[in-house]
Amino acid sequence: MAALQICTYPDPILRRKAEPVKTVDRELRKLIDEMAETMYAAPGIGLAANQVGKSQRLLVLDLQRPEYEQGLMALINPTIVAASGETTYEEGCLSVPEFFSNVKRHEQVTVQAVDKEGHPVEITATGLLAVVLQHEIDHLEGRLFIDHLGTITRELFKRKWKKRLKEDKA
Ligand code: NI
Repeated sequence: MAALQICTYPDPILRRKAEPVKTVDRELRKLIDEMAETMYAAPGIGLAANQVGKSQRLLVLDLQRPEYEQGLMALINPTIVAASGETTYEEGCLSVPEFFSNVKRHEQVTVQAVDKEGHPVEITATGLLAVVLQHEIDHLEGRLFIDHLGTITRELFKRKWKKRLKEDKA
């Protein structure tokens, strides 16, 4: 299976709010498989559909750490229904390559979604799983982790990115 192309900042699709998925069918499951493949190949621990050019409310994640046993998760139309506490984690993003920064997030979130069988699921997560869920659901809203940075780090990012885009063109 071929990996999909990952859109990178400032691709406008990353800023568009993704559309709700209406039916969980074979085509959607194929997209889920391709997104998982793309995430593992990158490699990354989470991927939202709009990062591969599909403006749909769908995400895959796999923390790939022994302390988290949930393995590959695919969440359709996920929403955060409860959030509490505060945590800081150094985040990165496949759409913002080679830039990492601390981001403040909720320590615990409860997410309601539909799984790839079309069944409703509810997950209460803490730690890295909670961080990745918030990061990926942000993507579906057209938000990126760099939007959470303070003004100084954000300026640093902008400068670094300008340089990077210039180098890409050269
Ligand atoms: Ni990301």
